[in-house]
Amino acid sequence: MIKQQLARFNRLDLLGAPTALEKLERLSEWAGRDIYVKRDDTTPLALGGNKLRKLEYLGADALAQGADTLITAGAIQSNHVRQTAALAAKLGLGCVALLENPIGTTQSNYLQNGNRLLLDLFDAKVELVENLDNADEQLRALAVRLQAGGKKPYLVPIGGSNALGALGYVRAGFELAAQIEQTGLNFAAVVLASGSAGTHSGLALALGEALPQLPVIGVTVSRTDQDQRPKVQGLAERTAELLGVPMPDSFKVELWDEYFAPRYGEPNAGTLAAIKLLASHEGLLLDPVYTGKAMAGMLDGIGRQRFNDGPLIFLHTGGAPALFAYPDVWAS
Ligand SMILES: Cc1ncc(COP(=O)(O)O)c(C=O)c1O
Repeated sequence: MIKQQLARFNRLDLLGAPTALEKLERLSEWAGRDIYVKRDDTTPLALGGNKLRKLEYLGADALAQGADTLITAGAIQSNHVRQTAALAAKLGLGCVALLENPIGTTQSNYLQNGNRLLLDLFDAKVELVENLDNADEQLRALAVRLQAGGKKPYLVPIGGSNALGALGYVRAGFELAAQIEQTGLNFAAVVLASGSAGTHSGLALALGEALPQLPVIGVTVSRTDQDQRPKVQGLAERTAELLGVPMPDSFKVELWDEYFAPRYGEPNAGTLAAIKLLASHEGLLLDPVYTGKAMAGMLDGIGRQRFNDGPLIFLHTGGAPALFAYPDVWAS
């Protein structure tokens, strides 16, 4: 039912083919558990990542509305802003981004390298702000300013995480369900990083319908379970409403919040160990803000027997460009 409804929505086909679901042989051996990875880090635009799936729907809406400028917001090292700016370039639109420094660092690599460096190449216009505590309001004020100057801005929320953007991960959920069926395996869980929640909400909604027995576990990157839960639940409900479908009976928000310390945007020892392990055993690059924390959670969950029996799937949502913003974390 969700799948049929999804087909009603306009989408730019930016992805082309499904991303691969592949087994991580050496990591599986290391962990004593079969681990597969869904390679959303390899989506085709500007070094990849999960946001392209959301932008397929948001970009289609922007064009339908006759917008000439995409506006959005995020951290200086936001992968979301990088992918939005790249899409604007590809579509011949302008891009203006409000950026905050969530860790208050003065490190030049954080301020200038990694994702931030790429924004200049895409010709995005950047405005630094003290914080993004009222991001939606701040973006609306920016839109008003741009309209006064004759522009037609389209507001892409933080992380692309509104109901329309989350459709990208509803679609990804059905894509993954078909790949899982092809393997003939009985997976124990899908694990992913849960941030602005569009990825988690959309995926859990689709899998709630397509594979109701399969747990979807979000490892938080910035919030406690208590703070993240209403974000994931609320966005899933708004997405179901947009689709015009009831919430699947089996829909459940599962969160692990033990891995995000000390705070958003700052890796801990477990994050770094996970990044190093995947790089040295698989040649696979995780990132210090999202996927390093999510992988640390998954590996710790295996050690602590938090999963049912069966192979696991890690949704790799990208983020490796941020590695170049954090060279100093490897020093000690
Ligand atoms: C690499 C990476 N992984 C995961 C996420 C989290 O996705 P979401 O914001 O949809 O929860 C993000 C969001 O910025 C990201 O850049």
